[in-house]
Amino acid sequence: MADPIIKIRNLHKWYSGVHALKGVSLDIQPNEALGLVGDNGAGKSTLINILSGIQQADEGEITIDGEKVNFRNPRDAMDRGIETIYQYNSMVPTMSIARNMFIGREPLKASFMGVGIMDRKRMAEESVQAIADVDLHLRSPDALVGELSGGQRQGVAIARAMHFKSKVMILDEPTNHLAVKETQKVIGFVQSLKELGITAIFISHNIHHVFECCDRIVAMARGEVVLDRRTEETNMEEIHSAL
Ligand SMILES: Nc1ncnc2c1ncn2[C@@H]1O[C@H](COP(=O)(O)OP(=O)(O)OP(=O)(O)O)[C@@H](O)[C@H]1O
Ligand SMILES: [Mg+2]
Repeated sequence: MADPIIKIRNLHKWYSGVHALKGVSLDIQPNEALGLVGDNGAGKSTLINILSGIQQADEGEITIDGEKVNFRNPRDAMDRGIETIYQYNSMVPTMSIARNMFIGREPLKASFMGVGIMDRKRMAEESVQAIADVDLHLRSPDALVGELSGGQRQGVAIARAMHFKSKVMILDEPTNHLAVKETQKVIGFVQSLKELGITAIFISHNIHHVFECCDRIVAMARGEVVLDRRTEETNMEEIHSAL
């Protein structure tokens, strides 16, 4: 097996009274699609929020490509190739495709009294290219993301990941009920990431969906990893009884 792209060791997180992560350790292999399951409050979002720089661990260690990291914010994680998609709010619907492509990483053409001026021309050109590169056909980089279908938005997210050479894509599914069609798109999305060589971490409440698109399933309960299996070596009953 290859060296893990991400090594998580003995991660702890407390929220005042709540011990949300109780020493979580996990290795994630390159180009693996990992499904993370568990009941409400199991600690899934806390774990991936730490991995994507949104929150900081109280104890423990994360290594990316063999190097210890300490993400202070999402930008730090993005710089190390970790991109997080919150399915419906990872993009700003009232902003253009080009702006969304570069969110948090806007190229600057000059700075005036310490305030950078965005290079809109470059963002437009590069986003047209990035979108063409993933075979997505959209009218214009100036179109608003709010006018795109769910599938097209995910296409933009893929284009963004490819353009910035993201190595890991984290998808934290909303807990509310998605339409069947939308859910199938998410599953297709995880599969396409794998084809592109991008490591995917897919959090879902629906274990069936995880079975459909993940190579490996990790279950969490009460802040701990309670099961870690190759998809073909486990089944629904085993996962349910672990939770
Ligand atoms: N910002 C916060 N402040 C205080 N407690 C929190 C905070 N975020 C999470 N928690 C607590 O930490 C525990 C783990 O929550 P977390 O959001 O990681 O669970 P989850 O597995 O993502 O659940 P869900 O499936 O409902 O999204 C829960 O007990 C939760 O109440
Ligand atoms: Mg959550």
